[in-house]
Amino acid sequence: MRILSGIQPSGVLHIGNYFGMMRPAIALQAEGEALYFIADYHALTSVRDPEALRTNSRRVALDFLACGLDPERATLFRHSDVPQVTELAWILSTVAPMGLLERAHSYKDKLARGVAATVGLFNYPVLMAADILIYDSDVVPVGKDQKQHIEMTRDLAVKMNETFGQIFKLPEARIQPATETVPGIDGQKMSKSYGNNIDIFGDEKETRKRVMSIVTDSTPVEAPKDPERSTIVQLYSLFASKDELANMKEQFKKGGTGYGDFKKELFEKLREYFAPMRKRREEILRDKSYINNVLTKGAKRANEIAEQVMQRVRKAVGLR
Ligand code: TYM
Repeated sequence: MRILSGIQPSGVLHIGNYFGMMRPAIALQAEGEALYFIADYHALTSVRDPEALRTNSRRVALDFLACGLDPERATLFRHSDVPQVTELAWILSTVAPMGLLERAHSYKDKLARGVAATVGLFNYPVLMAADILIYDSDVVPVGKDQKQHIEMTRDLAVKMNETFGQIFKLPEARIQPATETVPGIDGQKMSKSYGNNIDIFGDEKETRKRVMSIVTDSTPVEAPKDPERSTIVQLYSLFASKDELANMKEQFKKGGTGYGDFKKELFEKLREYFAPMRKRREEILRDKSYINNVLTKGAKRANEIAEQVMQRVRKAVGLR
């Protein structure tokens, strides 16, 4: 089984990225050949500062490694170290129906938020399909927001197979129901671009501030509260044991505890959860060549697979 996923270096990583994709991806590295990449080509659709793109790309590698990606088991690489994906994206774009791309939620959401409508942004799902198909991927661990992109990838694979004969496998999204959409501090989906994120390795003071500003209703301290509709409880459930979660829900229903106290409890749990990873991150940082070595090795392996698949594709469509 081949497992593949990507993450954009368009900012620092948050706990939505961690629970939606990184943790499941790290768990899957024991189940097959895993390939995880830093989607710097994709990030070009929003990042306009070259130094920031380079810095963020390294930081994504660092954070992913600190969180448990094991380079002995999984391949970690930069998207742009496999330029063949842009060749495949072009080939896929020649069969991609306009209507299919026009239905993309993520494109429509971005336009609605005022992002400029570039051809790259519109074509994003085609590049993403190339990312997945170029490694003959079977399983793609992602959060729910990427579901439609994987469906589009399958549509494009079918279209290519119908047009040129059997070239591609049909990949499947692997979405964890419990963590498919991690909420941000305002209760909406956590996202770098919504500014409602809690970062995995954020500064402690800033993280506390963000946790303390989780939006709640105005139920007074002494009154019972509804745990089922609370962002605090939803976030707490990511870190707490079953008993701890049951206990917090009980306290909610009982009344007598204010939201501020629950937020403090959440902050402590969060800090405890990421402490070992923070330590690992410091260790990695001390080894100056570690990240470069991992990425160089990753690029080599990713290239091997991509080139094999591209030879099959070029032959099938009549190139060379
Ligand atoms: P990106 O960089 O926005 O997010 C990386 C991963 O984190 C997940 N995620 C979340 N999961 C749950 N709750 C949230 N609040 C949350 N926010 C983010 C995303 O679902 C994603 O899995 N297009 C992709 C990157 C990409 C890719 C690929 C993924 C490029 N090519 C090929 C898989 C396969 C993206 O923008 O993810």
